[in-house]
Amino acid sequence: MKVCHSIDEMRAASRAARREGKSLGLVPTMGALHEGHLSLVRAAKAQCDLVAASIFVNPLQFGAGEDLAKYPRTFDRDRELFTQEGVDFIFAPSVEEMYPAGAVTYVTVEELSDKLCGRSRPGHFRGVTTVVSKLFNIVEPDRAFFGQKDAAQSTIIRRMVRDLNIPVQVVVCPIVREPDGLAMSSRNAYLDASQRQAALVINQSLRAVQKRFDQGEHKVDALIEAGIRVFAQAPSVRLDYFEIVDPETLDAGDDLSRAALVAVAAFVGKARLIDNILLRPA
Ligand code: PAJ
Repeated sequence: MKVCHSIDEMRAASRAARREGKSLGLVPTMGALHEGHLSLVRAAKAQCDLVAASIFVNPLQFGAGEDLAKYPRTFDRDRELFTQEGVDFIFAPSVEEMYPAGAVTYVTVEELSDKLCGRSRPGHFRGVTTVVSKLFNIVEPDRAFFGQKDAAQSTIIRRMVRDLNIPVQVVVCPIVREPDGLAMSSRNAYLDASQRQAALVINQSLRAVQKRFDQGEHKVDALIEAGIRVFAQAPSVRLDYFEIVDPETLDAGDDLSRAALVAVAAFVGKARLIDNILLRPA
């Protein structure tokens, strides 16, 4: 396993792999690894000859007053976990390496970037699409692996790749959860014991929607109401949004004859957590 801190090192390693005829998978992360991240590595290992994983807490995707400074940074542990999983290259650049003074160029997926988390976190998705396109240009992977946990992020990255003809295949992997349903997230580390318990309403609200849907309720308003009602059980949890949208356009709609994304974001203490499910017509 090789750790590359510079863009030149990473690019040289990936080009050498390509010269040997090997396919390369990329798993972009911000570190503070958990089983969700490792599931992406396992998918990449299964589909590619070599796997690069990046660890970069990207300042561009954090808004003013968000958790950039206190985002968990656990590089030694992350390196150990990636090594155990058989990652071939870790790309761990500094902020200066990724954004040298004078960098003023951004990649924006218009319209989609203002939906869901983009509405409450202005500029967030621009930061994500800018750093992910830089990672694609640096690593030049054949495939890149993302989690359905960040459903809007995956949709926006797929759209960017399509619109800009980026030669990479985007693979979206299922959400990995704790046994009690909480979606794994690096931000779960912010929760104390009572917040950890309260956070369960997030997934429970989605399950309530799934249950009503399976029972035959196909009116979007009624389903949203059933989801939001669950939050009454945990008054300390502050709902940011609860929406049912088209998974490709992220627009709200009332057509449940096609797959629909039920997406929720909520604050538990200072942690902002997200989760989602896909409702599929029978
Ligand atoms: P991060 O939050 O570290 O997540 C890295 C990848 O892991 C993302 O594709 C995310 O969707 C996936 N992931 C996180 N939790 C997951 C879970 N419980 N199950 C399955 N996959 C999960 O997302 C980012 O970093 C950044 O925005 C990044 C894409 C790296 C750009 O900076």
